Amino acid sequence: MGSRPLSRIAVLPGDGIGPEVTAAAVHVLRAAIPSCTFDEAPVGAAAIASHGTPLPAETLELARASDAILFGAVGGPGFEDLAPDKRPEAAILGLRKAFGLYANVRPSFAFAGLESRSPLRAELVRGMDLVIVRELTGGLYFGPKSLEREDGVLTARDELVYRDFEIERIVRFAFALARTRRRSVTSVDKSNVLISSQLWRRIATDVAREFPDVALEHMLVDNAAMQLVRDPRAFDVIVMENMFGDILSDEAAMITGTIGTAPSASLGADPHARGFGLYEPISGTAPDIAGRGIANPAAAILSAALLARFSLGDDDAAQRIETAVAQTLERGPRTPDLDDAPRAISTAAFAEAVLARLQPAGVRAVGSRA
Ligand code: NAD
Ligand code: IPM
Ligand code: MN
Repeated sequence: MGSRPLSRIAVLPGDGIGPEVTAAAVHVLRAAIPSCTFDEAPVGAAAIASHGTPLPAETLELARASDAILFGAVGGPGFEDLAPDKRPEAAILGLRKAFGLYANVRPSFAFAGLESRSPLRAELVRGMDLVIVRELTGGLYFGPKSLEREDGVLTARDELVYRDFEIERIVRFAFALARTRRRSVTSVDKSNVLISSQLWRRIATDVAREFPDVALEHMLVDNAAMQLVRDPRAFDVIVMENMFGDILSDEAAMITGTIGTAPSASLGADPHARGFGLYEPISGTAPDIAGRGIANPAAAILSAALLARFSLGDDDAAQRIETAVAQTLERGPRTPDLDDAPRAISTAAFAEAVLARLQPAGVRAVGSRA
């Protein structure tokens, strides 16, 4: 130790359960990598309250000066009538765009001991280990939008735009990731209807030629939604455009038993390049349970592990965190999304249980997922 340079983490907790689960993640990351420093700034509804805008300039400045962002969640009731660019959610979309974080990695992993919490039969879920690679800075989210009266008719438009290079880089990212896994890519599209999907499929086919050791399968998105619940273990890496990835990643998460264990990394370079990234649970602010201290912090803690791996290049710390979380999930007790009363525990108690299992640097636990 001692000589290790400090890594500066921007902590943006946001709203609802965001601050609750982010505090747990900071706690664990601080213990895993003592050379991390943490600076907090407001985003989302919290920033609208304090600064009148969901993504204040100071918050963006802090993020720019940092090695990585640990993000909670933004949004909540009371903003329904605001234009999209004024809502709390504009903060996360603004950060993704400002830092060019086009590659969103969303693993769905069936942790041992949780199979019975899946809405699917345990034998369908045991061993499920897939990654959704979601394109994050294009598509419907970022195309031209308008609400205008045309010939007396109120008309809303969200345009779905993809440029060839945007498709090419995300598909290439998925293939590079597949090479570190089971060498299988499923490219999801709607090429029977959408011209943007026809281009997607053509480019995916071209990129696949650079990766002859990785199998490529094309699948229409409606069928993909069905195949995910029919046989989730059949998938390795699944790549798709922004909106499809938003929807299918919540589905894949729930198949593992809860959305509360689903982390994500948002990156702007290939999966081997150590660099800046944003790390957050895939879920939202969970207004139905916010403020009660019962949200599952596993997704936030596992997001911190991805931060260690992708932005700090510290695979040892990432594995130590992942092992401690997996052991805590397997043995319990867990938060109420995974355990019933009276066994269920709080967010803070779950984080303490993870900390208690965290091995010191350089020590590889027996049975680690490595
Ligand atoms: P949600 O993901 O917040 O909640 C859906 C369900 O999952 C709820 O029942 C919630 O209690 C449960 N859940 C989510 N995270 C959990 C956790 N860690 N532990 C236990 N249970 C958990 O989705 P929603 O209710 O549709 O959205 C609420 C708000 O969050 C909206 O304003 C939405 O825009 C926002 N949102 C933000 C992000 C983000 O910041 N990246 C992501 C998704 C949704
Ligand atoms: C997510 C969220 C966001 C998205 C919202 C809050 C803008 O649902 O990260 O999955 O749709 O990307
Ligand atoms: Mn979502």
